[in-house]
Amino acid sequence: MTTDELAQLLAQQPVAILHRLARGRVQRHFRAGKRRLIDMLIQHSTNNLAGLESDLQALIEERQSRVQTPVPPANPVPPRQTAPHTSRRPTRTHEPESTEPGVTLTAWLEGLGVPTPQPFVPDPWQEEALAGLAETDVVVSVPTGSGKTYVAVEAARRAMSENRTIIYTSPLKALSNTKFTEFSKIFGSDQVGILTGDRQDNAQAPILIMTTEILRNLLYDAASGEIDVRLDTLGLVILDESQYIADPERGVVWEETIIFCPSQAKLLLLSASIGNPQDIADWLTSIRPSPCRLVRHSKRTVPLRAGYLHPNGKLTPLFRTAGIPYGHPGQLHPEAKRLFLQYEEDTLPSGRTRR
Ligand SMILES: Nc1ncnc2c1ncn2[C@@H]1O[C@H](COP(=O)(O)OP(=O)(O)OP(=O)(O)O)[C@@H](O)[C@H]1O
Ligand SMILES: [Mg+2]
Repeated sequence: MTTDELAQLLAQQPVAILHRLARGRVQRHFRAGKRRLIDMLIQHSTNNLAGLESDLQALIEERQSRVQTPVPPANPVPPRQTAPHTSRRPTRTHEPESTEPGVTLTAWLEGLGVPTPQPFVPDPWQEEALAGLAETDVVVSVPTGSGKTYVAVEAARRAMSENRTIIYTSPLKALSNTKFTEFSKIFGSDQVGILTGDRQDNAQAPILIMTTEILRNLLYDAASGEIDVRLDTLGLVILDESQYIADPERGVVWEETIIFCPSQAKLLLLSASIGNPQDIADWLTSIRPSPCRLVRHSKRTVPLRAGYLHPNGKLTPLFRTAGIPYGHPGQLHPEAKRLFLQYEEDTLPSGRTRR
């Protein structure tokens, strides 16, 4: 989609959608009019129009799905005469429950399983992230299950081809172990090492997997000249699950790692759930040698389904629809409701069941 087409599509949307797109992208957007908001959105996404378009499509789809599934009232209530003295504030009404029977368990489970193999085609955002990384640091903020590992692996492959070393960090020892196994299969076990509090293997390998705390400590030591870490050949630092930067206790480790990261190495921050990725990209831009590129979108490749698993092992869809009906709390699946009430009856002292 060209910039003009995107601007036209934006102009057709209600301003609430534009404000949702502006969150995390444009500061102080609340007072901007529609035209100005569109200009600001396009201007701020010059380097990532695909991300803006993808987020916009996701919001349009979300809105359409709400419009297409109106809730038929169970017992239509005739309009009431408002007494002249009543407050003008509308009284809060409970959303009427749907009379729809609700999706069957079989229909809800449909499509789960191993998909038929297809040739691998990178998604545009994956290519965009890799292209960005050729020049500068990149923050990737995309939903879970989107394929962030592909970006990490390809970026590592490119750095290796330039005889650069790569450090990949994760916040958990268990995840570091998993990535060690995964990367060893891809690059060969002689090419990959691991350093965690529990484990040190092949520490001279060109690709090193470690917890973020270990990398921070290595960078500390290097800064004080205490040890000789191979920082001069370091070409790429991948911080997976980098939403930990917001963690009240551990977030400082991510901050310090970024601050101490050698300037010649590219930083790749991968996250599924950063609320303010633009702020993080802006911060990186302010402390690193070149402007950080933000690659983001919010469209889920793998749609979420919500289910209710009763302690007796019975599984049922949580909502009447197969997907999650955002903003429709009255759409609980009758079977989930029945099971939950039964659970309450079984566990709460008699007479305390909530209805
Ligand atoms: N372009 C693509 N087309 C189809 N499948 C893809 C693509 N990229 C990645 N995948 C597949 O998507 C799945 C999820 O990928 P991955 O584990 O990298 O997701 P992720 O974004 O790291 O998720 P998480 O947030 O859970 O860490 C994997 O099976 C991967 O092979
Ligand atoms: Mg991942």
